[in-house]
Formats: sequence, structure tokens, C-alpha cells
Amino acid sequence: MKNRRLCLAARPGSLVKTTDFKMETVELPQLKAGEFLVKTLFLSVAPVMKFYMLDGAGIENVMQIGDTMRGRGVGEVIESRHPDYQVGDIVQGKHGWQEYVICDGSPYHMMYKVRQRGLSFSTALGVLGMTGFTSYFGLYEVGELKAGENVLVSAATGGVGSNVGHLAKIKGARAIGLASTDDKCRLLTEKLGYVGAINYKKENVSERIDYFFPEGIDVYFDNVGAEILDIALTKLRRYARVVCCGRISQYKDLETAEYALNNWHFIYANCAKMKGFFIYDFEKDFPIAEKEMAQWIKEGKLTYQEDVLEGLENMPVALNRLFEHKNVGKQLVKIG
Ligand SMILES: NC(=O)c1ccc[n+]([C@@H]2O[C@H](COP(=O)([O-])OP(=O)(O)OC[C@H]3O[C@@H](n4cnc5c(N)ncnc54)[C@H](OP(=O)(O)O)[C@@H]3O)[C@@H](O)[C@H]2O)c1
Repeated sequence: MKNRRLCLAARPGSLVKTTDFKMETVELPQLKAGEFLVKTLFLSVAPVMKFYMLDGAGIENVMQIGDTMRGRGVGEVIESRHPDYQVGDIVQGKHGWQEYVICDGSPYHMMYKVRQRGLSFSTALGVLGMTGFTSYFGLYEVGELKAGENVLVSAATGGVGSNVGHLAKIKGARAIGLASTDDKCRLLTEKLGYVGAINYKKENVSERIDYFFPEGIDVYFDNVGAEILDIALTKLRRYARVVCCGRISQYKDLETAEYALNNWHFIYANCAKMKGFFIYDFEKDFPIAEKEMAQWIKEGKLTYQEDVLEGLENMPVALNRLFEHKNVGKQLVKIG
């Protein structure tokens, strides 16, 4: 049986190029005792993958040229010599950018069994996977959200941001989202639970935040960093929380100097908190978030948005879409 996989061929520049990857076709070995074979159905696409290719994102070993690209996927067990995994089980874990992966159940692959909830298995990488968990724990645990509070979210139509509007509403709070186009802004208020939207490319962000939240913001859920973070700091209310989830505006051109914040003193003035987090630190509570969010989807309280390309060869294109402002919702690629 053959496996196709995309391997790192060169370190990327600003956007990734197809020549940064090499498609290899290899023969799959026979399974050893304790192993199981997973056929990839969907692969996740996330901004952090750019860092995997460069420096391991500070959380993983640096990838070497020739390594299979790193990333999570969801797939079906099609052969098993492992007592805990049966043929037909759906699992999500560190598949890598490939059509098949052989696992042995060790922590390396971080394979979780996916509960069948009558939804597309893609949701195990999106709203009911790491992306949704990032929205959930970012807003509720790191952001310490309370009913009646005002929430501002950047990259609000992205994978993580697209869940935050509804999650805020479910807790009795109100969220305003930032996005780069009028179409994305419409989606925020018409489908994604936001009470208002700001097109940060053409509107005055500071004035628009004042318009929606004249009393200021209690939680800023930051996915982008830099200038927008700097503006948001000036709008904090007393005891506000800034959720440092990510800073995609700083990922594309790594040669560019880091943005220096001007307005950090607003943290002092408002007795506010700024906190980074790493989603895997919440791993033990993932089942709680998964169950609760699945229930909210069933009840129609939480809708989700996915952006799906097809074909392993389209992984580089899909990765670039994140940095070209093209994706609407969680970016995925359908493989099987
Ligand atoms: N802390 C954790 O453990 C953790 C876990 C997962 C993800 N994250 C972080 O969470 C953030 C969101 O991740 P995601 O996977 O959901 O990605 P995403 O939001 O889908 O990322 C793509 C979106 O980011 C926005 N964007 C791209 N370049 C930008 C720029 N220069 N300035 C402002 N916005 C820009 C675009 O939206 P617009 O068109 O609206 O500009 C684009 O559609 C990322 O920063 C990621 O690193 C953190």
C-alpha cells in the first residue's frame, strides 16, 4: 500500500512556496504488534505551521529538511494490531501532512478518539477540536469572562475567532469582532453571534470601539498582536483581561522587527491582566469543552464556520490563505 506525504524541502520566506515542500510516495510497512493504521480524512491548517517549518514554534523540535510536515488530522482506523483501537474508530491527532499514518498509541501522536456526534468529522479539528478548545478556554479560563461583559475579538472570522462570538453570548456577554472585509463583517453579525463588527482595513478602529463600547472593554481576545492590540489596550476597563492567544500579524515576515507596544501602561492604570496560554495546558479538560460545545451546537446556540479545500497537494495553498486573509472560518483540507 502506498502513502503520499508532503515533506519539508526548504525553509519558507514570507509566504510558503510549493517548492518549500516535496511530495513523496512511499510503501507503507506491515503493522507491528501494538500499531494501528489511520487513513487521513481531513488535515488542519494553522498559523503555527509556518513556525514549525522555521523554528518549531518554541514548543516542538525544529523540523529538519526532509521531515514529513507536522500537523493535526482526523482519520479512520483501517487496520489495527493495538488492543485499544478498532477498525472503524475515528481518531484525531498528529497525523502529519500525509494520507496514512501508523501509530502505536504513544503520547507522541496525541491521538484522541473522536465521539460520533452526527457532525462532519472535520469538526474534530475545528469547533470540537484544538481550535474550538482554544476559543473556549481562551475566553472562559484565561479571559475569565463574566455575564454582562464587553468582549473585543481580532481575526474574528478565523478558526478560533469564529467561535468566540457565540461563546460570549452563551455566557451573557456581548462581543464585537474585527475582520478585514465587509463580507466577513456581515458574517460576524449574521451568523457568528457577534453584536457588532469593525472592518479594520477601512474603518477607524479606535472610534468604532468607542461607538460600540463607550464604557470600554472587559476582555480583549487577541489573535493578531501589534497595532490592533495597542489600540485595544487604550479601551480597557478596570480589571479587564487581555487574552494573548496569538499574533498572526507578526508571523508572516519574520525578518521584520517585533512591534513595540506603546500603550502597555493602560494595564497598570486599569489593574488589568494580560495573559498568554498554550492550549495543551488545558488537555485534561478537553472532554468537558467538547461535550459542552457539542450540546450547544445541537441546541443551535453555537454555529461554526469551516473553509475546506481538497487534496494533499493543496496544503501549501491552504496555509497561505491564512496570511492572505482568504480563509473564512477554520481552514481545513479534505484528504480522504
Ligand atoms: N495559544 C494557543 O494555544 C493557540 C492555539 C491555536 C491558535 N492560536 C493562535 O490563535 C490565532 C488564530 O488562529 P487560527 O488557527 O484560528 O487562525 P485564523 O484566525 O484562521 O488565521 C487567519 C486569519 O488571521 C487574520 N490575519 C492574517 N494576517 C493578519 C494580519 N497581518 N493582521 C491582522 N489579521 C490577520 C485574517 O483575518 P482577517 O481577514 O479578518 O484579517 C485571516 O483570515 C493565531 O494567532 C494562532 O497562532 C493560539
